[in-house]
Amino acid sequence: MTKTYHVKTYGCQMNVYDSERMGELLEAEGYAAVNAPDEADLVILNTCHIREKAAEKVYSDIGRLRVAEPKRLANGRDTLVAVAGCVAQAEGAEIFRRSKTVNMVFGPQTYHRLPDMLADVVAKRARGFAAQVMDTDYPADTKFDHLAKGRQATSPLAFLTIQEGCDKFCSFCVVPYTRGAEVSRPPEAIEAEARALVARGVREITLLGQNVNAYHGKDSAGHETDIAALATRLSAIDGLKRLRYTTSHPLDMNDSLIAAHAELPKLMPYLHLPVQSGSDTILKAMNRRHTAVDYIRAIDRVRATCPNIALSGDFIVGFPGETDKDFADTLQLVTQARYAAAYTFKYSPRPGTPAAESDKQVPEDIKADRLAQLQALLNEQHLAFNTPCVGTVQPILIEKPGKKPQHWVGKTPYLQLVSFTAPDHAIGDIVNVTITAASKNSLEGNAIL
Ligand code: 5AD
Ligand code: SF4
Repeated sequence: MTKTYHVKTYGCQMNVYDSERMGELLEAEGYAAVNAPDEADLVILNTCHIREKAAEKVYSDIGRLRVAEPKRLANGRDTLVAVAGCVAQAEGAEIFRRSKTVNMVFGPQTYHRLPDMLADVVAKRARGFAAQVMDTDYPADTKFDHLAKGRQATSPLAFLTIQEGCDKFCSFCVVPYTRGAEVSRPPEAIEAEARALVARGVREITLLGQNVNAYHGKDSAGHETDIAALATRLSAIDGLKRLRYTTSHPLDMNDSLIAAHAELPKLMPYLHLPVQSGSDTILKAMNRRHTAVDYIRAIDRVRATCPNIALSGDFIVGFPGETDKDFADTLQLVTQARYAAAYTFKYSPRPGTPAAESDKQVPEDIKADRLAQLQALLNEQHLAFNTPCVGTVQPILIEKPGKKPQHWVGKTPYLQLVSFTAPDHAIGDIVNVTITAASKNSLEGNAIL
Protein backbone atom coordinates (compact mmCIF):
# COMPACT_ATOMS: atom_id res chain seq x y z
CA MET A 1 0.00 0.00 0.00
CA THR A 2 1.27 3.49 -0.82
CA LYS A 3 2.43 5.39 2.24
CA THR A 4 0.84 8.78 2.78
CA TYR A 5 1.98 12.07 4.31
CA HIS A 6 0.45 15.32 5.43
CA VAL A 7 2.38 18.56 6.03
CA LYS A 8 0.87 21.42 8.00
CA THR A 9 2.69 24.72 7.51
CA TYR A 10 2.81 27.55 10.03
CA GLY A 11 4.48 30.94 9.72
CA CYS A 12 6.22 32.58 6.82
CA GLN A 13 6.58 32.00 3.09
CA MET A 14 9.97 30.40 3.64
CA ASN A 15 8.20 27.68 5.58
CA VAL A 16 5.83 27.25 2.62
CA TYR A 17 8.87 26.77 0.38
CA ASP A 18 10.42 24.29 2.84
CA SER A 19 7.17 22.31 3.15
CA GLU A 20 7.00 21.99 -0.64
CA ARG A 21 10.57 20.67 -0.71
CA MET A 22 9.80 18.15 2.06
CA GLY A 23 6.80 16.97 0.04
CA GLU A 24 8.98 16.45 -3.02
CA LEU A 25 11.55 14.47 -1.01
CA LEU A 26 8.81 12.24 0.38
CA GLU A 27 7.22 11.74 -3.03
CA ALA A 28 10.62 10.65 -4.34
CA GLU A 29 10.49 8.03 -1.56
CA GLY A 30 7.09 6.81 -2.77
CA TYR A 31 4.84 8.74 -0.36
CA ALA A 32 1.62 10.37 -1.58
CA ALA A 33 0.14 13.59 -0.17
CA VAL A 34 -3.19 13.53 1.70
CA ASN A 35 -5.22 16.47 2.96
CA ALA A 36 -6.18 15.15 6.39
CA PRO A 37 -3.69 14.22 9.12
CA ASP A 38 -5.71 11.19 10.20
CA GLU A 39 -5.32 9.65 6.74
CA ALA A 40 -1.53 10.00 6.88
CA ASP A 41 1.23 7.57 7.81
CA LEU A 42 3.47 10.56 8.44
CA VAL A 43 2.32 13.93 9.78
CA ILE A 44 4.81 16.82 9.64
CA LEU A 45 4.15 20.05 11.48
CA ASN A 46 6.42 22.67 9.90
CA THR A 47 6.44 25.19 12.71
CA CYS A 48 7.02 28.89 13.41
CA HIS A 49 8.64 30.40 16.51
CA ILE A 50 8.30 34.09 15.69
CA ARG A 51 5.65 34.91 18.29
CA GLU A 52 4.46 32.98 21.33
CA LYS A 53 1.02 32.28 19.85
CA ALA A 54 2.50 30.61 16.77
CA ALA A 55 4.81 28.43 18.87
CA GLU A 56 2.16 27.36 21.40
CA LYS A 57 -0.29 26.42 18.65
CA VAL A 58 2.00 23.56 17.71
CA TYR A 59 1.57 21.85 21.07
CA SER A 60 -2.20 22.13 20.97
CA ASP A 61 -2.17 20.76 17.41
CA ILE A 62 -0.02 17.80 18.48
CA GLY A 63 -2.54 17.16 21.27
CA ARG A 64 -5.36 17.21 18.73
CA LEU A 65 -3.73 14.50 16.62
CA ARG A 66 -4.88 12.09 19.34
CA VAL A 67 -1.98 9.76 18.75
CA ALA A 68 -1.29 7.36 21.64
CA GLU A 69 1.38 4.72 22.10
CA PRO A 70 1.37 1.81 21.40
CA LYS A 71 -1.63 2.15 19.07
CA ARG A 72 -1.16 5.40 17.23
CA LEU A 73 -3.94 7.47 15.65
CA ALA A 74 -7.56 6.78 16.54
CA ASN A 75 -7.87 5.29 13.04
CA GLY A 76 -5.49 2.47 14.00
CA ARG A 77 -2.69 3.56 11.67
CA ASP A 78 0.87 3.52 12.94
CA THR A 79 1.24 7.20 12.18
CA LEU A 80 4.59 8.91 12.69
CA VAL A 81 4.65 12.53 13.85
CA ALA A 82 7.44 14.99 13.01
CA VAL A 83 7.93 18.52 14.31
CA ALA A 84 10.00 20.47 11.78
CA GLY A 85 10.91 24.11 11.31
CA CYS A 86 11.67 26.91 13.72
CA VAL A 87 10.05 25.59 16.94
CA ALA A 88 11.96 22.35 16.39
CA GLN A 89 15.21 24.28 16.01
CA ALA A 90 14.57 26.48 19.05
CA GLU A 91 13.18 23.88 21.45
CA GLY A 92 14.81 20.64 20.29
CA ALA A 93 14.53 17.79 22.81
CA GLU A 94 12.10 19.85 24.93
CA ILE A 95 9.47 18.84 22.36
CA PHE A 96 10.01 15.15 23.15
CA ARG A 97 9.69 15.97 26.84
CA ARG A 98 6.41 17.80 26.31
CA SER A 99 4.92 15.25 23.95
CA LYS A 100 5.48 11.50 23.75
CA THR A 101 3.57 11.55 20.46
CA VAL A 102 6.44 13.07 18.51
CA ASN A 103 8.90 10.76 16.71
CA MET A 104 11.08 13.24 14.84
CA VAL A 105 12.33 16.75 15.54
CA PHE A 106 14.33 18.53 12.85
CA GLY A 107 15.16 22.12 12.01
CA PRO A 108 14.93 24.24 8.85
CA GLN A 109 18.46 23.30 7.76
CA THR A 110 18.28 19.49 8.02
CA TYR A 111 15.08 18.40 6.31
CA HIS A 112 17.02 16.99 3.34
CA ARG A 113 18.00 14.21 5.78
CA LEU A 114 14.33 13.34 6.29
CA PRO A 115 14.49 10.04 4.32
CA ASP A 116 17.38 8.85 6.57
CA MET A 117 15.59 9.95 9.75
CA LEU A 118 12.45 8.15 8.61
CA ALA A 119 14.35 4.95 7.87
CA ASP A 120 15.96 5.19 11.33
CA VAL A 121 12.61 5.63 13.11
CA VAL A 122 10.91 2.87 11.14
CA ALA A 123 13.78 0.43 11.82
CA LYS A 124 13.78 1.20 15.56
CA ARG A 125 10.03 0.76 15.80
CA ALA A 126 10.21 -2.53 13.89
CA ARG A 127 12.54 -3.76 16.64
CA GLY A 128 10.00 -2.70 19.26
CA PHE A 129 11.75 0.47 20.47
CA ALA A 130 10.01 3.79 21.00
CA ALA A 131 11.78 5.90 18.42
CA GLN A 132 12.59 9.57 18.83
CA VAL A 133 15.10 11.04 16.40
CA MET A 134 16.36 14.61 16.47
CA ASP A 135 18.46 16.60 13.99
CA THR A 136 18.89 20.33 14.61
CA ASP A 137 22.37 20.79 13.11
CA TYR A 138 23.52 23.49 10.76
CA PRO A 139 25.23 21.10 8.32
CA ALA A 140 27.98 22.24 5.98
CA ASP A 141 26.27 20.62 2.97
CA THR A 142 23.16 22.70 2.60
CA LYS A 143 19.68 21.37 1.97
CA PHE A 144 19.73 23.22 -1.35
CA ASP A 145 22.27 20.69 -2.66
CA HIS A 146 19.84 17.86 -1.96
CA LEU A 147 16.53 19.00 -3.32
CA ALA A 148 14.44 16.43 -5.13
CA LYS A 149 13.24 16.95 -8.69
CA GLY A 150 10.09 19.06 -8.52
CA ARG A 151 6.64 18.02 -9.59
CA GLN A 152 4.06 19.66 -11.88
CA ALA A 153 3.05 23.03 -10.45
CA THR A 154 -0.44 23.22 -8.98
CA SER A 155 -0.39 27.04 -8.95
CA PRO A 156 1.10 29.63 -11.33
CA LEU A 157 2.78 31.22 -8.27
CA ALA A 158 5.87 29.86 -6.56
CA PHE A 159 8.31 30.88 -3.86
CA LEU A 160 12.04 30.44 -4.33
CA THR A 161 14.42 30.83 -1.40
CA ILE A 162 17.54 32.69 -2.58
CA GLN A 163 18.95 33.70 0.78
CA GLU A 164 18.30 32.43 4.24
CA GLY A 165 19.21 33.19 7.81
CA CYS A 166 20.05 36.52 9.33
CA ASP A 167 23.07 38.25 10.87
CA LYS A 168 21.29 41.44 11.89
CA PHE A 169 20.11 40.39 15.37
CA CYS A 170 17.18 42.72 15.95
CA SER A 171 16.71 42.45 19.71
CA PHE A 172 13.13 41.05 19.46
CA CYS A 173 13.71 38.38 16.83
CA VAL A 174 14.32 34.63 16.95
CA VAL A 175 15.25 34.24 13.28
CA PRO A 176 19.05 34.42 13.70
CA TYR A 177 18.72 31.57 16.21
CA THR A 178 16.22 29.42 14.31
CA ARG A 179 17.40 29.88 10.72
CA GLY A 180 21.07 30.46 11.51
CA ALA A 181 23.64 32.72 9.85
CA GLU A 182 22.92 34.44 6.55
CA VAL A 183 23.62 32.33 3.45
CA SER A 184 23.09 33.46 -0.17
CA ARG A 185 22.68 30.73 -2.80
CA PRO A 186 24.70 30.84 -6.05
CA PRO A 187 22.85 32.58 -8.93
CA GLU A 188 23.29 29.57 -11.24
CA ALA A 189 21.44 27.29 -8.81
CA ILE A 190 18.67 29.86 -8.43
CA GLU A 191 18.32 30.29 -12.19
CA ALA A 192 18.18 26.51 -12.70
CA GLU A 193 15.45 26.23 -10.08
CA ALA A 194 13.53 29.15 -11.61
CA ARG A 195 13.75 27.61 -15.09
CA ALA A 196 12.50 24.28 -13.74
CA LEU A 197 9.57 26.04 -12.05
CA VAL A 198 8.63 27.86 -15.26
CA ALA A 199 8.90 24.63 -17.27
CA ARG A 200 6.38 23.14 -14.81
CA GLY A 201 3.86 25.95 -15.34
CA VAL A 202 4.89 28.65 -12.85
CA ARG A 203 4.38 32.21 -14.14
CA GLU A 204 5.24 34.32 -11.09
CA ILE A 205 8.17 33.73 -8.75
CA THR A 206 8.65 35.43 -5.39
CA LEU A 207 12.30 35.40 -4.34
CA LEU A 208 12.57 34.79 -0.61
CA GLY A 209 15.11 35.79 1.98
CA GLN A 210 15.02 37.14 5.52
CA ASN A 211 17.05 40.09 4.16
CA VAL A 212 16.45 39.44 0.51
CA ASN A 213 17.79 42.77 -0.72
CA ALA A 214 21.14 41.99 0.93
CA TYR A 215 21.43 38.95 -1.37
CA HIS A 216 25.05 38.49 -2.45
CA GLY A 217 25.38 35.03 -4.00
CA LYS A 218 28.71 34.13 -5.61
CA ASP A 219 28.65 32.74 -9.14
CA SER A 220 30.95 29.92 -10.30
CA ALA A 221 33.58 32.48 -11.37
CA GLY A 222 33.62 33.82 -7.80
CA HIS A 223 31.87 37.10 -8.62
CA GLU A 224 29.27 38.42 -6.20
CA THR A 225 25.81 39.02 -7.63
CA ASP A 226 23.39 41.44 -6.00
CA ILE A 227 19.62 41.12 -6.13
CA ALA A 228 19.30 43.56 -9.04
CA ALA A 229 21.70 41.49 -11.18
CA LEU A 230 19.88 38.33 -10.14
CA ALA A 231 16.50 39.83 -11.07
CA THR A 232 17.94 40.87 -14.46
CA ARG A 233 19.17 37.33 -15.05
CA LEU A 234 15.83 35.77 -14.09
CA SER A 235 13.87 38.30 -16.16
CA ALA A 236 15.41 36.75 -19.26
CA ILE A 237 13.55 33.47 -18.66
CA ASP A 238 10.87 33.05 -21.34
CA GLY A 239 7.52 32.16 -19.88
CA LEU A 240 8.23 33.84 -16.55
CA LYS A 241 5.84 36.77 -16.39
CA ARG A 242 6.33 38.28 -12.95
CA LEU A 243 9.05 38.54 -10.33
CA ARG A 244 8.69 39.65 -6.72
CA TYR A 245 10.98 39.58 -3.69
CA THR A 246 10.53 39.68 0.05
CA THR A 247 11.51 40.62 2.81
CA SER A 248 13.76 43.66 2.44
CA HIS A 249 15.70 45.59 5.08
CA PRO A 250 15.84 49.41 4.96
CA LEU A 251 19.64 49.40 5.34
CA ASP A 252 20.07 47.30 2.19
CA MET A 253 17.84 49.29 -0.17
CA ASN A 254 20.58 49.89 -2.73
CA ASP A 255 20.45 52.03 -5.88
CA SER A 256 20.83 49.10 -8.27
CA LEU A 257 17.67 47.47 -6.93
CA ILE A 258 15.77 50.74 -7.17
CA ALA A 259 16.99 51.17 -10.77
CA ALA A 260 15.95 47.58 -11.55
CA HIS A 261 12.37 48.53 -10.76
CA ALA A 262 12.50 51.06 -13.61
CA GLU A 263 14.40 48.79 -15.99
CA LEU A 264 12.77 45.38 -15.61
CA PRO A 265 9.11 45.23 -16.66
CA LYS A 266 8.77 41.79 -15.02
CA LEU A 267 9.84 43.12 -11.60
CA MET A 268 6.56 44.07 -9.95
CA PRO A 269 6.04 47.52 -8.33
CA TYR A 270 5.69 46.26 -4.78
CA LEU A 271 8.08 46.68 -1.87
CA HIS A 272 7.74 45.03 1.52
CA LEU A 273 10.00 47.13 3.73
CA PRO A 274 9.44 46.56 7.46
CA VAL A 275 10.22 49.45 9.80
CA GLN A 276 8.81 48.05 13.09
CA SER A 277 8.62 51.46 14.83
CA GLY A 278 8.74 55.18 14.03
CA SER A 279 10.54 56.11 17.25
CA ASP A 280 14.32 56.49 17.13
CA THR A 281 14.58 55.48 20.81
CA ILE A 282 12.73 52.24 20.12
CA LEU A 283 14.54 51.60 16.83
CA LYS A 284 17.81 51.86 18.75
CA ALA A 285 16.58 49.50 21.48
CA MET A 286 15.49 47.11 18.72
CA ASN A 287 19.02 47.22 17.29
CA ARG A 288 17.59 48.14 13.89
CA ARG A 289 20.59 50.33 13.07
CA HIS A 290 18.53 52.91 11.20
CA THR A 291 16.44 55.92 12.23
CA ALA A 292 12.92 56.91 11.19
CA VAL A 293 14.40 59.52 8.85
CA ASP A 294 16.71 56.91 7.23
CA TYR A 295 13.63 54.86 6.48
CA ILE A 296 11.66 57.77 5.00
CA ARG A 297 14.70 58.68 2.88
CA ALA A 298 14.91 55.11 1.58
CA ILE A 299 11.29 55.12 0.44
CA ASP A 300 11.66 58.63 -1.03
CA ARG A 301 14.51 57.27 -3.17
CA VAL A 302 12.36 54.35 -4.29
CA ARG A 303 9.43 56.63 -5.13
CA ALA A 304 11.65 59.05 -7.06
CA THR A 305 12.22 56.19 -9.51
CA CYS A 306 9.02 54.26 -9.13
CA PRO A 307 6.32 56.72 -7.98
CA ASN A 308 3.44 54.24 -7.88
CA ILE A 309 5.20 51.48 -5.99
CA ALA A 310 2.96 49.74 -3.46
CA LEU A 311 4.69 50.00 -0.11
CA SER A 312 4.08 47.48 2.62
CA GLY A 313 5.58 47.16 6.10
CA ASP A 314 5.74 45.27 9.39
CA PHE A 315 5.12 46.98 12.73
CA ILE A 316 5.54 45.92 16.33
CA VAL A 317 3.59 47.78 19.03
CA GLY A 318 4.39 47.57 22.72
CA PHE A 319 8.09 46.84 22.40
CA PRO A 320 9.66 47.08 25.91
CA GLY A 321 9.93 50.72 26.98
CA GLU A 322 7.58 52.05 24.25
CA THR A 323 5.91 55.22 25.60
CA ASP A 324 2.85 57.06 24.27
CA LYS A 325 5.25 59.50 22.61
CA ASP A 326 7.18 56.64 20.92
CA PHE A 327 3.92 55.21 19.65
CA ALA A 328 2.83 58.65 18.39
CA ASP A 329 6.09 58.69 16.39
CA THR A 330 5.06 55.41 14.77
CA LEU A 331 1.71 56.88 13.74
CA GLN A 332 3.56 59.91 12.41
CA LEU A 333 5.90 57.75 10.31
CA VAL A 334 2.95 55.78 8.92
CA THR A 335 1.24 59.04 7.94
CA GLN A 336 4.37 60.14 6.09
CA ALA A 337 5.13 56.79 4.44
CA ARG A 338 1.64 55.84 3.12
CA TYR A 339 1.20 52.06 3.03
CA ALA A 340 -0.69 49.99 0.48
CA ALA A 341 -0.51 46.97 2.83
CA ALA A 342 0.87 46.21 6.28
CA TYR A 343 1.35 43.55 8.96
CA THR A 344 0.96 44.65 12.56
CA PHE A 345 1.94 42.73 15.68
CA LYS A 346 1.89 43.09 19.44
CA TYR A 347 5.37 42.58 20.82
CA SER A 348 5.78 39.00 22.00
CA PRO A 349 8.78 38.23 24.25
CA ARG A 350 10.79 35.35 22.78
CA PRO A 351 13.06 33.20 24.94
CA GLY A 352 16.75 33.82 24.27
CA THR A 353 16.30 37.26 22.66
CA PRO A 354 17.68 40.37 24.44
CA ALA A 355 14.38 42.31 24.50
CA ALA A 356 12.64 39.48 26.36
CA GLU A 357 14.95 40.19 29.33
CA SER A 358 13.92 43.85 29.59
CA ASP A 359 12.13 44.90 32.78
CA LYS A 360 10.17 47.55 30.83
CA GLN A 361 7.55 45.21 29.33
CA VAL A 362 4.39 47.01 28.18
CA PRO A 363 1.04 45.80 29.61
CA GLU A 364 -1.19 43.78 27.25
CA ASP A 365 -4.11 46.24 27.34
CA ILE A 366 -1.85 49.08 26.18
CA LYS A 367 -0.48 46.87 23.39
CA ALA A 368 -4.04 46.01 22.29
CA ASP A 369 -5.08 49.67 22.30
CA ARG A 370 -2.05 50.76 20.25
CA LEU A 371 -2.55 47.90 17.80
CA ALA A 372 -6.16 48.99 17.20
CA GLN A 373 -5.12 52.63 16.63
CA LEU A 374 -2.36 51.65 14.23
CA GLN A 375 -4.60 49.28 12.29
CA ALA A 376 -7.30 51.95 11.94
CA LEU A 377 -4.80 54.36 10.39
CA LEU A 378 -3.35 51.69 8.10
CA ASN A 379 -6.81 50.58 6.97
CA GLU A 380 -7.54 54.14 5.86
CA GLN A 381 -4.31 54.10 3.88
CA HIS A 382 -5.06 50.75 2.22
CA LEU A 383 -8.43 52.10 1.12
CA ALA A 384 -6.75 55.30 -0.11
CA PHE A 385 -4.36 53.17 -2.20
CA ASN A 386 -7.10 50.94 -3.65
CA THR A 387 -9.88 53.48 -4.32
CA PRO A 388 -8.15 55.37 -7.20
CA CYS A 389 -7.83 52.04 -9.04
CA VAL A 390 -11.57 52.10 -9.78
CA GLY A 391 -12.02 52.92 -13.45
CA THR A 392 -8.46 51.90 -14.38
CA VAL A 393 -7.47 48.82 -16.36
CA GLN A 394 -5.08 46.44 -14.57
CA PRO A 395 -3.25 43.38 -15.88
CA ILE A 396 -4.27 40.47 -13.65
CA LEU A 397 -2.42 37.17 -13.37
CA ILE A 398 -5.14 34.54 -12.92
CA GLU A 399 -4.50 32.32 -9.89
CA LYS A 400 -7.68 30.32 -9.46
CA PRO A 401 -11.38 30.15 -10.32
CA GLY A 402 -13.70 32.33 -8.25
CA LYS A 403 -16.74 31.09 -6.34
CA LYS A 404 -19.22 31.69 -9.18
CA PRO A 405 -19.05 30.48 -12.81
CA GLN A 406 -16.92 32.70 -15.06
CA HIS A 407 -15.42 34.38 -11.99
CA TRP A 408 -11.67 34.35 -11.43
CA VAL A 409 -9.25 35.47 -8.75
CA GLY A 410 -5.84 36.99 -9.34
CA LYS A 411 -3.59 39.92 -8.46
CA THR A 412 -2.58 43.25 -9.91
CA PRO A 413 1.12 44.13 -10.24
CA TYR A 414 0.64 45.93 -6.88
CA LEU A 415 -0.38 42.63 -5.22
CA GLN A 416 -4.00 43.70 -4.82
CA LEU A 417 -6.37 40.76 -4.77
CA VAL A 418 -8.97 41.03 -7.55
CA SER A 419 -12.12 39.04 -8.09
CA PHE A 420 -13.37 39.50 -11.65
CA THR A 421 -15.57 38.11 -14.39
CA ALA A 422 -14.14 36.73 -17.61
CA PRO A 423 -15.29 34.07 -20.08
CA ASP A 424 -12.92 31.12 -20.80
CA HIS A 425 -9.59 32.09 -19.50
CA ALA A 426 -6.91 29.84 -18.08
CA ILE A 427 -5.06 29.88 -14.81
CA GLY A 428 -1.67 31.51 -15.41
CA ASP A 429 -3.01 33.89 -18.10
CA ILE A 430 -2.62 37.64 -17.69
CA VAL A 431 -5.82 39.49 -18.61
CA ASN A 432 -6.72 43.16 -18.70
CA VAL A 433 -9.42 43.89 -16.17
CA THR A 434 -11.42 47.09 -15.68
CA ILE A 435 -11.65 47.71 -11.94
CA THR A 436 -15.20 48.46 -10.83
CA ALA A 437 -15.02 48.44 -7.01
CA ALA A 438 -12.45 48.73 -4.23
CA SER A 439 -12.34 47.94 -0.52
CA LYS A 440 -9.38 48.07 1.85
CA ASN A 441 -8.42 44.44 1.14
CA SER A 442 -9.47 43.74 -2.44
CA LEU A 443 -10.78 44.90 -5.80
CA GLU A 444 -13.50 43.76 -8.18
CA GLY A 445 -13.66 44.04 -11.94
CA ASN A 446 -14.55 42.74 -15.39
CA ALA A 447 -12.11 41.47 -17.99
CA ILE A 448 -11.92 43.47 -21.21
CA LEU A 449 -13.03 41.19 -24.03
N1 5AD B 1 7.03 40.01 18.59
C1 5AD B 1 6.16 40.53 17.70
N2 5AD B 1 6.40 40.58 16.38
C2 5AD B 1 7.58 40.10 15.93
N3 5AD B 1 8.11 40.03 14.70
C3 5AD B 1 9.31 39.43 14.78
N4 5AD B 1 9.58 39.12 16.06
C4 5AD B 1 8.53 39.53 16.81
C5 5AD B 1 8.23 39.50 18.19
N5 5AD B 1 9.09 39.00 19.08
C6 5AD B 1 7.44 40.58 13.52
C7 5AD B 1 8.28 41.67 12.86
C8 5AD B 1 8.83 40.98 11.65
C9 5AD B 1 7.71 40.03 11.31
C10 5AD B 1 8.09 38.90 10.43
O1 5AD B 1 7.27 39.56 12.56
O2 5AD B 1 7.44 42.75 12.50
O3 5AD B 1 9.14 41.87 10.59
FE1 SF4 C 1 8.44 31.80 11.70
FE2 SF4 C 1 10.62 33.29 11.33
FE3 SF4 C 1 10.81 30.67 11.21
FE4 SF4 C 1 9.53 31.98 9.27
S1 SF4 C 1 11.71 32.13 9.79
S2 SF4 C 1 8.85 30.13 10.27
S3 SF4 C 1 8.57 33.64 10.47
S4 SF4 C 1 10.27 31.89 13.01
